[in-house]
Amino acid sequence: MKERNPSGESPEKKAAGIAAADLVEEGMVVGLGTGSTTAYTIAELGRRVEEGLDIIAVVTSYQSEMLAIQAGITLTSLAEHPELDIAIDGADQIDAALNVIKGGGAAHTREKIVSMSAERFVVVADESKISEQLDHYVPLEVLPYAKEYVSKQIFNIGGSPELRLASRKDGPVISDNGNFIIDATLGLIENPVETSALISQITGIVEHGIFTNVDEVYIGKKNGSVEIMS
Ligand code: 5RP
Repeated sequence: MKERNPSGESPEKKAAGIAAADLVEEGMVVGLGTGSTTAYTIAELGRRVEEGLDIIAVVTSYQSEMLAIQAGITLTSLAEHPELDIAIDGADQIDAALNVIKGGGAAHTREKIVSMSAERFVVVADESKISEQLDHYVPLEVLPYAKEYVSKQIFNIGGSPELRLASRKDGPVISDNGNFIIDATLGLIENPVETSALISQITGIVEHGIFTNVDEVYIGKKNGSVEIMS
């Protein structure tokens, strides 16, 4: 069981999220990721905006949009600013070569577009996300019409697909793009680039959660320190 303080805060996530916010400089266009670690980055950027920092941001989900608005950060879009200076986002698992799996919050399609649009892509996480190699299930955003077909293709490559449900008695999780999420257990992912290419070929998958474009990872430790992997 992970240790948390009574307020529900994660000091490790907070340390990483705040440290990465320091990379954001005056005048930058910033991609804001989704999740509990990025929420600390957004709050810290909001604090700096209140002190006078002039930035604009592109969000990756309705969740990060709400947080950014609450924090007083001026929003823009990829249509207006297709090139971002930096994107900061969380991850579900990170390997020694900085490949990551994302999509725990069902936002990985927009997160990938934003990260690919950024000059620098920084991941923020706590130590529990680090693993020598990737073996976490891979979230797949799937067109609802294609869910059976995609599941069959995942079986055919030796994987195990599971439609993500909102809760045990509720219906499917619906992404911000109106699609379903299939969590595909693929075992040990020895070559993330190859696996990424393989699942990208499956018709009906809008985007998968393997990211091979990370520049740096900020890892928050229990003692409040932050390790930077690059
Ligand atoms: C959302 C994501 C999140 O960044 C990822 O799930 C990590 O979340 P958290 O910071 O809450 O642990 O990929 O789609």
